Amino acid sequence: MADLFAGIGTSHVPGIGAAVDKGMTQNDYWKPLFDGYEPAREWLAKEAPDVVIIVYNDHASAFSMELIPTFALGVAAEFQPADEGYGPRKVPTVQGHPELAWHLAESLILDEFDMTIVNEMPVDHGLTVPLSITCGQPEAWPFKVIPLCVNVIQYPQPTGNRCYQLGKAIRRAVDSFDRDLKVAIFGTGGMSHQLQGERAGLVNAEFDIAFLDDLTRNVDRLVNISHVEYMRESGSEGAELVMWMIMRGALDDDAKELYRHFHVPASNTAAGLIILENP
Ligand code: DHB
Ligand code: FE
Repeated sequence: MADLFAGIGTSHVPGIGAAVDKGMTQNDYWKPLFDGYEPAREWLAKEAPDVVIIVYNDHASAFSMELIPTFALGVAAEFQPADEGYGPRKVPTVQGHPELAWHLAESLILDEFDMTIVNEMPVDHGLTVPLSITCGQPEAWPFKVIPLCVNVIQYPQPTGNRCYQLGKAIRRAVDSFDRDLKVAIFGTGGMSHQLQGERAGLVNAEFDIAFLDDLTRNVDRLVNISHVEYMRESGSEGAELVMWMIMRGALDDDAKELYRHFHVPASNTAAGLIILENP
């Protein structure tokens, strides 16, 4: 049977991807951030999952204002890096896992989560930066990826609780997939950031660290954080953290924290990474 064994929460700041692409990870600004990613990379390489479900948001790259799916599941065999205005990142094409992805689509929809099924979409920094953070610069990404794209851009976004419940449904789906596959799940975005307006550059480390703590200590509190609270405490883009709740929901209630890294600044934001593993 397929086994969903662990999850990673990580920021997806585009500047982190640019630092990798331009060979700047060892300069004074970026080195402390990248040093903290190293143990996570080693752990992931050792665990060697077959498939990773990456929960991320599209930043008007694949979907414009014409079409805004709340939850979109990529079922294609491959996904090309998106052109976000500077040409596509020179990173490997993302290989999908159509068999598991279609099983997820069937299981989730029959479980009453109305997913949008996507046969073709370019994937932007929301998905490729977490790959760079956790895998570096390989010739090919070392695992298959199922993109799960969440609308956190346009009001009304899904609630943290809805995301958490979707995570639980993803777990039921993976558990019922009749093939030996080692599966991990990433929740991306955050941590605190506000990219525009008078509060641009807002970082609330206290909020972020309490969020990291409560992923294992008090998930109920996190499930009930409202969009307004995210925006007030962690900036308007801090609300991307609802995507971490999908990752958390897919894990066991008593998942353990294996590793964390928290660093300010990364661009205008606080960057966080956490590894959670089922006992
Ligand atoms: C930045 C962060 C993001 O999460 C994002 O999607 C775009 C930009 C930033 O810090 O610049
Ligand atoms: Fe983002």
